[in-house]
Amino acid sequence: MTRSPRSAAIVTGSARGIGAATARRLASDGFAVGVVDLDEKQCADTVSAIEADGGRALAVGADVSDAEQAQAAVTRVADELGPPQVLVNNAGVIRDNMLFKMSEQDWDSVMDVHLRGSFLMSRAAQKHMTEAGWGRIVNLSSTSALGNRGQANYSTAKAGLQGFTKTLAIELGKFGVTVNAIAPGFIATEMTAATAERVGMSFEDFKEAAIGSIPVGREGRPEDIANTVSFFVGEQAGFVSGQVIYVAGGPKA
Ligand SMILES: NC(=O)c1ccc[n+]([C@@H]2O[C@H](COP(=O)([O-])OP(=O)(O)OC[C@H]3O[C@@H](n4cnc5c(N)ncnc54)[C@H](O)[C@@H]3O)[C@@H](O)[C@H]2O)c1
Repeated sequence: MTRSPRSAAIVTGSARGIGAATARRLASDGFAVGVVDLDEKQCADTVSAIEADGGRALAVGADVSDAEQAQAAVTRVADELGPPQVLVNNAGVIRDNMLFKMSEQDWDSVMDVHLRGSFLMSRAAQKHMTEAGWGRIVNLSSTSALGNRGQANYSTAKAGLQGFTKTLAIELGKFGVTVNAIAPGFIATEMTAATAERVGMSFEDFKEAAIGSIPVGREGRPEDIANTVSFFVGEQAGFVSGQVIYVAGGPKA
């Protein structure tokens, strides 16, 4: 089996950052892309960029941690773009704090978006993939899965996504669906800019400090992750499933 010619891809959290770069990359790979983020209006820039490059995209407002909204987002993409055969679970939030200061809400919101959101979106999208006999799910983990000070909630969620990835790979493999995860290191986006602000550093100083411990000697860019998503989604990666690839400019965080 190969992917259907009219198949669509869904990228969650694709109004900006890594998700936006991934949506653009998948559009240039030939997919019609469902650009899903909290608010439909936020998605306009990504959709226009894809259309300006000659691709097809649809802005969809949905909170991926809400079961009805997640299902509705998948249904809308299927109705308006074609059956989603690719899902990139990229939407994410950080609520960093040391354990003794971390609130239940900080814990729950991170679990809700990363874990519950990826579960709900995957459950809704797998129907279209298994029916077609071809599909790709890519989950965004992080080097923080290995442990990171001030991120008990986030590192737990990102490690959890690795287990989720491996189990879905086992369950869905026989339907022609592969499931993999990407664990980025430091990527310059609004998320890492917010971290710089929280620790009281300018983004430039924060990036420089990060680069100091990155073997390839530069910051990560959203396109570095988009390229890796494109690899997992391509036909050539059909025998690669249940894997986690660290994209961090070196072997570890
Ligand atoms: N930037 C990094 O260094 C880095 C490193 C490792 C992993 N990641 C992961 O990569 C992914 C993207 O990160 P980014 O840096 O582009 O972040 P970002 O904050 O720039 O973008 C995240 C997007 O997700 C959306 N989002 C948040 N909650 C949502 C929800 N409930 N439903 C729908 N959309 C929602 C936001 O509105 C935003 O557009 C995240 O999962 C993040 O944890 C990022």
